[in-house]
Amino acid sequence: MILIKLGGSVITDKSQFKTFDRSQASRLCKEIADSGVPTMIVHGAGSFGHMLAKKHSLQNGLKDPEQIPAAAQVHHDAMELGMLMTETLMENGIPAAAVAPGSCFVMDDGHLVVKDDEAIRSLQNIGIMPVTFGDVVMDRKKGFGICSGDQLMEVMADLFKPDKVVFVSDIDGLYTANPKTDPDAELIRTVTPETLDSVSSVSDVDDVTGGVRNKMESMLRMCGEGRECVLINGTVPGRLLALLRGEDVTCTVARM
Ligand code: IPE
Repeated sequence: MILIKLGGSVITDKSQFKTFDRSQASRLCKEIADSGVPTMIVHGAGSFGHMLAKKHSLQNGLKDPEQIPAAAQVHHDAMELGMLMTETLMENGIPAAAVAPGSCFVMDDGHLVVKDDEAIRSLQNIGIMPVTFGDVVMDRKKGFGICSGDQLMEVMADLFKPDKVVFVSDIDGLYTANPKTDPDAELIRTVTPETLDSVSSVSDVDDVTGGVRNKMESMLRMCGEGRECVLINGTVPGRLLALLRGEDVTCTVARM
């Protein structure tokens, strides 16, 4: 099984509040379906989560009662995106169920903990893909917190032991600098813990859950036992399909 995170930057327009990129999401779901490879999908929140979460500092937990309506709203919006994604998967022939992460996981001081994995395991066992997503999740110490798709990827990788982990983003991979602002930025094709150490300031967007460096760190944590973690650009048509088919594509591969 290949565990795939569809980043919020590829399924939403991150600059426009709550804007689903239906055509891109649909193309990516079709590429996943066409590959014929068993997969499981986690997705980010994009503009359905980050904007409001940042405005109300939800990533720092509950500090002020004025954050409560915003926390409820972000959860609602994340669920809405989850429904849009599962609808798109089903249109492409993949039975899928949106599973709010708070229904099986809880946070403990920002750390994601498995509470009850029976529902997601049963869905997977009968052939319905459980789709989890970045969302507001209750936190035992902080009241609530932001659970990112990347945190979910780590937990899902632990639970389901995928052969490969793929992060689909809007950049070709990890760069030596921000490729959107620095013309000298170079693509790093292979990342090991040593290469990551030499890349100090890789950061892309103004997210509440961190940029590319954080993503690479969590990717490295998911490597091991021959498991590769790949970061690829999902905005290039056919690239995800080619990767899933085992072809050589432009990407960054993390391995231990
Ligand atoms: C963010 O999840 C969750 C919320 C802000 C509610 P991610 O951090 O995984 O989302 P993207 O992929 O960066 O949009």
